[in-house]
Amino acid sequence: MHRIVNVVGVGGSSRPGSTAEQALRIVLDAAQRRGASVQLIAGPALAMPMYDPRQGTTTPQARRLLAAVSGADGLVLASPAYHGGISGLVKNALDHVEELREGPRPYFSERAVGCVAVANGWQGAASTLAALRDVTHALRGWPTPLGAAINTSTTRFSPAGDCKDDRVQAQLEEIAAQIVDFATRRVLAETPTESLR
Ligand SMILES: Cc1cc2nc3c(=O)[nH]c(=O)nc-3n(C[C@H](O)[C@H](O)[C@H](O)COP(=O)(O)O)c2cc1C
Repeated sequence: MHRIVNVVGVGGSSRPGSTAEQALRIVLDAAQRRGASVQLIAGPALAMPMYDPRQGTTTPQARRLLAAVSGADGLVLASPAYHGGISGLVKNALDHVEELREGPRPYFSERAVGCVAVANGWQGAASTLAALRDVTHALRGWPTPLGAAINTSTTRFSPAGDCKDDRVQAQLEEIAAQIVDFATRRVLAETPTESLR
């Protein structure tokens, strides 16, 4: 047997239960149904001072984020579109990942990263999804083949957090499948053959 893979979701907005956070939770729930353990870092947990390379990691929130990313086998990022791009809250949290440059797996390297953008229109959703995928590349991660661009003017979430659009729900579940599949392959590749017998 190989160990359980661990998927970490990072994103949302300062509003707990934001649309981006709801989408993130759907991906994490789907990953859990596929056997992964999951961890969510969203809302107030993302509130940290502007990243300053001279200061490094100065807050419990930043330390928790870095510990979670270090221990992740796969990741999901979700951001609302703010003026056509990643929100400052999410981008600042991702800037803190610079502190992982010296680790055995620097930044997001060797990990699949699902990206989800939420906006009030298609243009912002598409540009923000592309930006999240660019950041993933810059952090040496492997963007999953499928990302999700969600237009909240046409896609609704219920108060309980379910997505009312079956197609978007299916996309979010497919992103989870791609993350868990990639993570499981890597974990199997590092598992000694004798322990798989
Ligand atoms: C400061 C700010 C800037 C925004 N800029 C855009 C934008 O450029 N394009 C767009 O489609 N929506 C924009 N929106 C709308 C949000 O992306 C949209 O409402 C999203 O669904 C909110 O997600 P949340 O529920 O996760 O906060 C903006 C909202 C705010 C507060």
